Amino acid sequence: MAHLIEAGIIGATGYTGLSLLEVLVRHPNIELKFATTRRGDLAGEYIYREHPNLLGLTELQFSLFDLGNESLKDANDRVLRLIGDSDVVFLAVPSGASANIVKEIRRLGTRIIDTSADFRLKDPDAYRRFYEREHPCPELLKEFVYGLPELHREDIRKAKYVACPGCNSTAMILAGYPLTKIQGLGNFRIVYDVMTGSSEAGAELSRSSHHAERTGVVRPYSLKEHRHLAEVRQELGMEPSRVCATMFAVGMVRGVECIGHVFPDQPIGEKELWRAFRSAYGEEPFIRIRARKVPGPGSLPDPKFVRGSNYCDVGFFVDEVCGRICVLSALDNLLKGDVGNAVQSMNLMFGLDEGTRLRDLVPSYLYE
Ligand SMILES: NC(=O)c1ccc[n+]([C@@H]2O[C@H](COP(=O)([O-])OP(=O)(O)OC[C@H]3O[C@@H](n4cnc5c(N)ncnc54)[C@H](OP(=O)(O)O)[C@@H]3O)[C@@H](O)[C@H]2O)c1
Repeated sequence: MAHLIEAGIIGATGYTGLSLLEVLVRHPNIELKFATTRRGDLAGEYIYREHPNLLGLTELQFSLFDLGNESLKDANDRVLRLIGDSDVVFLAVPSGASANIVKEIRRLGTRIIDTSADFRLKDPDAYRRFYEREHPCPELLKEFVYGLPELHREDIRKAKYVACPGCNSTAMILAGYPLTKIQGLGNFRIVYDVMTGSSEAGAELSRSSHHAERTGVVRPYSLKEHRHLAEVRQELGMEPSRVCATMFAVGMVRGVECIGHVFPDQPIGEKELWRAFRSAYGEEPFIRIRARKVPGPGSLPDPKFVRGSNYCDVGFFVDEVCGRICVLSALDNLLKGDVGNAVQSMNLMFGLDEGTRLRDLVPSYLYE
């Protein structure tokens, strides 16, 4: 059998960590060597104690790892050795924590795939503005490739370090990207509305994530300048005044639905939109175009059709009366909005078929 890629996960108790475990325990080319937590009560415990759905799927046990904690020196050194012996490490920790870990583990030479926001932005000023702190290692920003294969496939193949996009950013970028290919649109402006499920906020409890408070909501929560806009502006090459967004927390667990509104100076027809979307995504393994004129299930992107999979469905329609064009996307925030990009990138970095394991993730329609 060919050499298995040895991998580990830092931050395996959270939702991204769980999603990584779900994908990697069945990845045919991966041997999962370690999965960490800072929680002493879980040290040495089987993964399925924290993630009961993984019972019978892996015998891996949690390793204790908390770099900032001097009293855990032996445990930390053990994990640092495991990282050094591995081919790739996935970081599934909050933004801020990730950069501090990268600073320390970089010297070990292992490839890093970071799911946090710490290395997504190339511009440290944008990081300061959106994350309200100085970047702890701005000199490393240029070493990371933005982990969205649809835009950066060739760079990802050669990358040692990848920073995966946010879930809302992935949805906004993939919906808006084809528009950048339409000449007649010029310097268009776009207004996004983005609806997100509760798992986007991670496993930590808060009043707003409490079941009684969260169930059934359609709650605007980030009216302007959401952090993910910084990534959209960077990736679509747009000035701040040309792209804005409002986020809504809605009553789903997994899923993002995004719609972008554009009022072009000159009419843009469906034919041009079809051409732009096909040229952007015609060969993409995880992008499906839904743009049927007849309304009804399946005509346009809807998280219900992608949940549990690595697909991002994109689509569009033209509102001739007021000269509006709308672009849409839907994805599963923990897969194509997170771990899906991470594993797709890993497959590329190690010369595997890009869809390995991810292609098996068929959308689960009657779910939730
Ligand atoms: N949720 C999503 O839909 C989504 C989508 C795209 C990207 N992401 C990114 O994925 C990362 C993880 O998000 P999540 O939703 O999985 O959050 P989460 O559920 O809150 O999990 C965070 C994980 O990080 C660990 N952790 C927390 N603070 C830490 C620290 N200071 N140092 C080391 N480990 C720490 C926690 O583990 P212990 O307490 O057990 O140590 C936990 O395993 C974030 O950077 C987020 O931006 C999330």
